[in-house]
Amino acid sequence: MSNMKTTGQQHGRRSWAEPWKIKMVEPIDMLDDEGRRGAMEEAGYNTFLLRSDAVYIDLLTDSGTNAMSDRQWAALMMGDEAYAGSRNYYRLEETVQKFYGYRYLVPTHQGRGAEHLISQAAIKEGQVVPGNMYFTTTRLHQELAGGTFIDVIIDEAHDPKSEHPFKGNIDLAKLERVIEERGAGNIAYVSLAGTVNMAGGQPVSMENVKAVRELCNRHGVKLYLDATRLAENAYFIKEREPGWRDRPIAEIVRAFCDYSDGAWKSSKKDGLVNIGGWLCVNDFELFEELRNMVVVYEGLHTYGGIAGRDMEAMAIGIEECMNDDYMHSRIGQVRYLADMLLEWGIPIVRPTGGHAVFLDALGFYPDMPRECYPAQTLAAKLFLDSGVRGMERGAVSAGRDPETGLDRKPALELVRLTLPRRVYTQAHMDVTAEAIKAVWDKRGEAKGLKMVYEPRYLRFFQARFEPLE
Ligand code: F0G
Repeated sequence: MSNMKTTGQQHGRRSWAEPWKIKMVEPIDMLDDEGRRGAMEEAGYNTFLLRSDAVYIDLLTDSGTNAMSDRQWAALMMGDEAYAGSRNYYRLEETVQKFYGYRYLVPTHQGRGAEHLISQAAIKEGQVVPGNMYFTTTRLHQELAGGTFIDVIIDEAHDPKSEHPFKGNIDLAKLERVIEERGAGNIAYVSLAGTVNMAGGQPVSMENVKAVRELCNRHGVKLYLDATRLAENAYFIKEREPGWRDRPIAEIVRAFCDYSDGAWKSSKKDGLVNIGGWLCVNDFELFEELRNMVVVYEGLHTYGGIAGRDMEAMAIGIEECMNDDYMHSRIGQVRYLADMLLEWGIPIVRPTGGHAVFLDALGFYPDMPRECYPAQTLAAKLFLDSGVRGMERGAVSAGRDPETGLDRKPALELVRLTLPRRVYTQAHMDVTAEAIKAVWDKRGEAKGLKMVYEPRYLRFFQARFEPLE
């Protein structure tokens, strides 16, 4: 160890490494050219419809794709599968209360289960929900509950080139305008996500959440967090915001949550498990309502649609994701991939976010009409080149406006390459970067896609396309 350090210092280079080693592996291999072509055709040029066996490096999502630790796997044997009052529920409740600080917990099968409950309980028909850029399932549940989502994120979030360190921040003037125009009574709550998935995994600053809280207090408006990737958000606060550098991630998460009235979370992301979610509030009456609803839609209030063993793994995942060395390597791996692409001049969303590298499809294909789905095209090209699977995050994901029925035209037209946690090595990142480079070099040949099947809800999951070439 001491030798290694000396050598490192001699070369002026000090690397980080993951604070874990690999105990079990899952074999993967790449289909040949013809195999990948066949798979893509069968999937209607939608990476969501590919069989995972056809994929070589799977960067579709960081959701539920994490590798659990040996402690978590061992904990699965400690599942108490009682229908009511499982001991794993109480362990989870205690852990969530300790790390996130909320009073009441409702477990749910995953994030959208929690989004469904909070939206139905806290939104009245005709109310608006201001938030820092939409997320697909979050906004849909708000709409299904009779609400209208209004984006109040800062303008920089819509500009892939802006280097703003906290592109997830709410624009306080925009929020204040919405509250004044609509009236505080017509605001269901402010919906604040850290980090912001659709903006490129961009963080919210502590200063911003504090200011949003103060604004909400002045108008008597509630503030709920989407805590799906809040531990990753805390890393950026530690790195970029004065006063937080020497504070542990856990302390930062707790301080952030203390500004809110409650939160929902998909534990499948920075919570380091494969399934599960939760919803927390501080208000007892609202909790009562949520607890009444959870038994209808998810399961009893002490399991919420997840097995006892999974609640145990969730509790351990919370502790593990707050480990500062782990988080450094997590964000470090995302940056490692991004930095290679930047060096080659490939357009990606700046600055690099917490869970993914986002390719700017309009930078790849500046002359392709939006109607030909540049990001969907780029995701398909990448799979065809090397079996690397990413996800469209552009016009297809944005869907149609429920009032006009017309396609939404988001400013960002991106392909997300999302990194599962503790799953791939830096060598996989090298292969991925080289595959992207190959597609970049051939960018002049792309013609685009046309949509030939469009589902009613969350169309990006199941839509089908045909190539225009
Ligand atoms: N909120 C955010 C910010 C998310 O990214 C997701 C899921 C959810 C809520 C919903 O949680 O999937 O457990 O029901 N995002 C996944 C993704 C699907 O790939 O980004 P869920």
